[in-house]
Amino acid sequence: TYPRRIFSGIQPTGQIHLGNYLGAIAQWVKMQDNNEDMLISIVDLHSMTLPHDPKQLEKNILEMTATLLGCGIDPEKVTLFQQSTVHQHTELCWNLACVATMARLAHLPCYKEKSASLRDIPLGLFIYPVLQAADILLYKSTQVPVGEDQIQHIELCQELSRMFNNKFGQTFPHPHALITGAEYARLRSLRDPSKKMSKSDPDPKSRICLLDKPDNILNNIKKAVTDFKSEVTYDPAERLGVSNLISIHSFVTNKSVEDIVLEANNLNTGQYKLMVADAVISHFKPIQDKIAHLVEDPQYLLDVLKQGTEKASVIAEKTTEEVRNKLGI
Ligand code: ADP
Ligand code: NA
Repeated sequence: TYPRRIFSGIQPTGQIHLGNYLGAIAQWVKMQDNNEDMLISIVDLHSMTLPHDPKQLEKNILEMTATLLGCGIDPEKVTLFQQSTVHQHTELCWNLACVATMARLAHLPCYKEKSASLRDIPLGLFIYPVLQAADILLYKSTQVPVGEDQIQHIELCQELSRMFNNKFGQTFPHPHALITGAEYARLRSLRDPSKKMSKSDPDPKSRICLLDKPDNILNNIKKAVTDFKSEVTYDPAERLGVSNLISIHSFVTNKSVEDIVLEANNLNTGQYKLMVADAVISHFKPIQDKIAHLVEDPQYLLDVLKQGTEKASVIAEKTTEEVRNKLGI
């Protein structure tokens, strides 16, 4: 058996939205505060699977570092590092690529979706899930917090672990997807609540971003699509729009849905939106201030990442040596 260890990756793609924040980063902060053994990787190699701008990527890596620290990730408690600085990720990716099959990868819905609109599909996009499996297995991670859309990738990782172990001897654990029920409830698009809030939605008014200015947050919430009823009730089956606002409100205030509905008893949805916007803006304020402050000090951010690289490399090198022995190389 393998000791419990959590691995999470996040792409350094500019703006984090409220869904990423509460569905991922805020959950990591909770796990960190529960003293979990945890690694968080800024997965820059994954960001190159679609065409990218090097200057922008470099800036985004530091901005993501500042964002994670601003949200409460503590580099003393968690190993926070930039994926590409630990070279063993790509080596293990290759080793697992020699175990994986083309047919299995081509079958993944995420790949089908992303490649559908492309004329020339980068090979990196195709093997992206193998790199993801390498990220996880390199640290013999046992738990991987993910959104529902990533479950298939965890299943692939489990298969690759099993296939490698069968061929070359017990090496890797069987990693589990960590989905903590209601806490991972999907936030909906503000413009079309039938869709999830996503950075890939072309309409920027469909989401709230962590670095949005207060005016912008207020406007987007004011324009959030609800329905023809004016009362504030929680009914995700029938009233997805207003229920989504209540979920957001509940999360940023730490109040229960019941308390919020009581509190909003005398308000119509128009008035209620102002209350939600206010709560989001005040929740974001200290985080935004901290991020702004950190971004001013790139040397500090680089030092944090360097310390993370050193910590991650110790584990990575140990696994790599073991893998090389097993493979006869
Ligand atoms: P996007 O859909 O914006 O591209 P990603 O796929 O990069 O977001 O998601 C990264 C993580 O953020 C997911 O694994 C999930 O935990 C969280 N997440 C993304 N969108 C939402 C959402 N609408 N509600 C809750 N969590 C979300
Ligand atoms: Na996505």
